[in-house]
Amino acid sequence: MRDLVIVGAGGFGRETVDTVRAINRGKPTWRILGVIDDSPSPANLNRLAALDLPHLGGLAALPPRSAVALCIGAPADRSRLAQRLEPDVELPSLIHPSTQIGSLFRHGHGLITLAGTSIGTNVRVGDHVHLNAHAVIGHDVHLSDFVSVNPNATVSGECAIGTQVLVGAGSTVLQGLTVGRGSTVGAAACVTHDVPATRTVKGVPAR
Ligand SMILES: CC(C)(COP(=O)(O)OP(=O)(O)OC[C@H]1O[C@@H](n2cnc3c(N)ncnc32)[C@H](O)[C@@H]1OP(=O)(O)O)[C@@H](O)C(=O)NCCC(=O)NCCS
Repeated sequence: MRDLVIVGAGGFGRETVDTVRAINRGKPTWRILGVIDDSPSPANLNRLAALDLPHLGGLAALPPRSAVALCIGAPADRSRLAQRLEPDVELPSLIHPSTQIGSLFRHGHGLITLAGTSIGTNVRVGDHVHLNAHAVIGHDVHLSDFVSVNPNATVSGECAIGTQVLVGAGSTVLQGLTVGRGSTVGAAACVTHDVPATRTVKGVPAR
């Protein structure tokens, strides 16, 4: 068993604990030492206690030689936090055993998937990508670094999703489209045209 620290006491951090526990049920792999968070809310501290997980403190309290799961949901915040980590820290990918993975899948470090995620054939994923519960990634898709795909969202075949894009819960990006760096797709949106960088689009069709 290797030591692992979860960074982020929020929803995605605690969902990631479930992914880690599911991995461990198949093959004991990770010992979760606790959760790092600079300023957890009182509600989240109670939720950690219910999971039997200690709050270890802020980033300065990161235990040496432990692997790190970067679980900050907001892509830009996650990217900023990654820059504060030591360059040699281990950032494993944590893939829920129920994730469906197609052929020719390539990914960088720090990929985290939750239960029920589906990844089509020939998908390429950068570093620190989060795929929430039941996200669907179609064939021949490229997700750049720090992309978050929220629950039940669908990225259709041959899409290219830029760095730090958030694809909102239950939204659909139609096939072959590009979503530019730093943009946000609102929950339940249907994206029918390319989205330029740093835009927020919402609604059906998304504007
Ligand atoms: C689209 C989004 C980014 C907008 O955030 P925001 O800029 O803070 O917008 P606000 O909450 O101030 O709302 C502004 C307006 O947009 C509307 N709006 C917000 N989200 C919307 C959405 N997803 N679809 C359609 N309209 C939306 C609001 O009703 C409001 O309308 P009004 O001015 O007529 O009252 C955000 O609401 C969203 O959908 N994010 C995705 C979050 C997600 O996936 N959450 C699940 C986490 S698991």
